[in-house]
Amino acid sequence: MFDISAQASRATHAPQPVRTAIFPVAGLGTRFLPATKATPKELLPVIDTPLIQFAIDEARAAGIERFIFVSHPSKASIERHVRQDANLARQLRRKGKNQIARKLEEAALSECEHDIVFVMQDEPLGLGHAVNCAAAHALPGAVAVILPDDLILGKGCIKEMVDAYQTAGVGHMVASMQVASDKVSSYGILDPIETNGQIIRARGMVEKPDATDAPSRQAVVGRYVLDGSIFSDLDRIEPGAGGEYQLTDAIAAGAARLGLAGFAFSGTRFDCGSKAGMLAATLHRAQQDDEFADVLASVAAPMSAAKVTVAA
Ligand code: UTP
Repeated sequence: MFDISAQASRATHAPQPVRTAIFPVAGLGTRFLPATKATPKELLPVIDTPLIQFAIDEARAAGIERFIFVSHPSKASIERHVRQDANLARQLRRKGKNQIARKLEEAALSECEHDIVFVMQDEPLGLGHAVNCAAAHALPGAVAVILPDDLILGKGCIKEMVDAYQTAGVGHMVASMQVASDKVSSYGILDPIETNGQIIRARGMVEKPDATDAPSRQAVVGRYVLDGSIFSDLDRIEPGAGGEYQLTDAIAAGAARLGLAGFAFSGTRFDCGSKAGMLAATLHRAQQDDEFADVLASVAAPMSAAKVTVAA
């Protein structure tokens, strides 16, 4: 683990504008095979909204100017989803489906309003490598990184973080939530110094520790606001856990120089990289929409009947 003194961690870092968001979407999505053989994980829907759309909407709400997607040549449908499709909108309007045409236009990124950049990561060499593929395209200042398979519903997480970053006085900020002790070995875990509201100042972080060695239960999840020097630290790291270039290692390497904080976001997070998380997100959204009340009631009734039978 990289460690920094409490004194260094309190050093104030001049706030930088956050104009760029990086979306790493080049992974293999093996946990969802065979669904992800031909359909990118990032396009799997929670009811009718693909994961990548939630991520785009979150970045747009945070006032991001440049959207950099780090994709793979086999995942071209992500770009088709992200950009406007004038032809489809025309066809829908011709059929009188104006409302859905407008919905699609509002969801897609517009080249008049945003910079849209696609770069390719030809081999999935890890999240750190994916983020570094965006280096040449990032605007000056800090960068936001959003992992679309970590779905955070509620108050826009990356906006909350960008706002907090302006006064936190740290170079790197990572979204953080407390997890059960049997889950710490699945996450990057913060080594906290002190908590002030939603800001958790930390000495460093350690990737996937054993529960017994973990410095806390404060897990890092898929939203980051990172000082622009992250790219030079990414250039220097060696492959870490699993032979992959770990973003965590580059963040930890900069922590002593820049200060590091976790951010206890206020939304609800679903790990949509896992089947259970995807199901939970789907049920959560269904419960919030009257359209699905009857379906939910009809599946819940036989399930509780089955439970009674088992218990008996
Ligand atoms: P994950 O590790 O959750 O995604 O990466 P994965 O590797 O695609 O999924 P599994 O574990 O095999 O099921 C989180 C995000 O980072 C991207 C993924 O596309 C996902 O959006 N990623 C990961 C890259 O872009 N490149 C990589 O080398 C690794």
